[in-house]
Amino acid sequence: MTTTTQPGTRAGLAVELTDLTRVYGSNRALDGLTLHLEPGELVCLLGPSGCGKTTALRILAGLDEATSGTVEVGGKDLTHTPANKRDMGMVFQAYSLFPHMTVLDNVAFGLKLRGVDKAQRSTKAGDMLDLVGLGVHKQKFASQLSGGQQQRVALARALAIEPSVLLLDEPLSALDAKVRVQLRDEIRRVQLDVGTTTLFVTHDQEEALAVADRVAVMNAGNIEQIGTPEELYTQPSSAFVANFVGLTNRVPGELRGGAVLVHGATLPLLGAAQPDGQVTALIRPENIEFAPDGLAATVVASSFLGNVRRTQVRLADDSVLSVQHDVSEHPQTGDGVFLRFKSHAISASPTPAIPSS
Ligand SMILES: Nc1ncnc2c1ncn2[C@@H]1O[C@H](COP(=O)(O)OP(=O)(O)O)[C@@H](O)[C@H]1O
Ligand SMILES: [Mg+2]
Repeated sequence: MTTTTQPGTRAGLAVELTDLTRVYGSNRALDGLTLHLEPGELVCLLGPSGCGKTTALRILAGLDEATSGTVEVGGKDLTHTPANKRDMGMVFQAYSLFPHMTVLDNVAFGLKLRGVDKAQRSTKAGDMLDLVGLGVHKQKFASQLSGGQQQRVALARALAIEPSVLLLDEPLSALDAKVRVQLRDEIRRVQLDVGTTTLFVTHDQEEALAVADRVAVMNAGNIEQIGTPEELYTQPSSAFVANFVGLTNRVPGELRGGAVLVHGATLPLLGAAQPDGQVTALIRPENIEFAPDGLAATVVASSFLGNVRRTQVRLADDSVLSVQHDVSEHPQTGDGVFLRFKSHAISASPTPAIPSS
C-alpha cells in the first residue's frame, strides 16, 4: 500500500463528550450524552432516525452548540471553539463536491483555504487520492465520477487537512448496496492506515458492526449501550439494543429463576437478573435448529443467504419464527418440521411485548 501519510505516525487524539444536552423548543435532541473515544478509535453511533446522532456529531464539529455539557479533544476544551478552529474532517451523506472542479482541486480545496502553496497542496491531494484508489482520476471533473467514487473523493478531501478527528454522517446511505459494502471496508482500511480518531454515524446495524471498534447504540438522545460489536450482539443490555442489533424472534414465555420457559423448553437468560413473570423472550434465529422431534412447525418460506439459509416456520399458535441453518438443509414450503431451542435467550422484557420496530 502506498501512502505518504506515514501510517501509524499520526496518533489520533482522544475525544470526550460529557453530559451533552441539546434542547430544541420542547424537544430534547440530546439528553445527557456522554461518550469517550480512544485515540485512533473508530466508534459508530448507531440508532433509529431522530435519536440525535447528527446532533451529537454537529456539536462535536462545532456546527451546533450544546445547551449544556462539554466537548474535549486531545485534552483541550473546545466547547466554545468555532468550527473552523476545530480541525475536523467531515463527510456527509450527499457528496457535496464542487462538480465543475477537478477531483484534485476538490481534494486540495481545504488546503488552499489554509494557505498551503500550490505545489504542496497538489502533492498532498494526489497522495490522498492514491490512498482511496482514485489517483488515476485526479484530472476528471467531480461530476464525471460515480456516486461511490465521489464519496471516496469526499473522504480524501476530509483527510487531506490531516484532521484531528474524522466525522462521518451516514456517508454510505446514498449508495447502492454493493458499493456501500465496498466503500465501508475501504473507509475502515483508510482509517486504520491514517490512525485518525473517527466518529461514524449510521442507522444501519450491519454497517456499524462491520467497521467499528466499538458501537454506541443511541435511543432518544442518549446512549443505551456501548461496546464492541461482539458484546452488543451477544450481550445486549436491553430489548431495544437486542432488536436493533441483529434479527431476533420474539417468543412469549415465563421467566423463573434466571431461565425462560418457552414452548416447553427451558433456556438460560443472558444478562442481569430480572423478576419472575410473563415475558417476551428474544431468541436469535441461529439459536433455533431443526431436530428429529420437539416443537412442531410448518415451513412458510426459506431463503438462501449465501453461507446460511433462513427459514420461516409457523407454530400451532400461529406465531412465526425465523430459523437460521446450514445450506445443506432444504426445507420446502408446507413441510412439517420439528424445532429445538439450542442455547439461550438473549433478552426478555415483561409482557406486554416491546413495541415493534
Ligand atoms: N435545527 C433543529 N431544529 C429543531 N429540531 C431539530 C433540529 N435538528 C434536529 N432536531 C430534532 O432533534 C432530534 C434529533 O435529530 P437528529 O440529530 O438529526 O437525529 P438523527 O441524526 O439521529 O436522525 C429530532 O427529533 C429532530 O427533529
Ligand atoms: Mg442524522
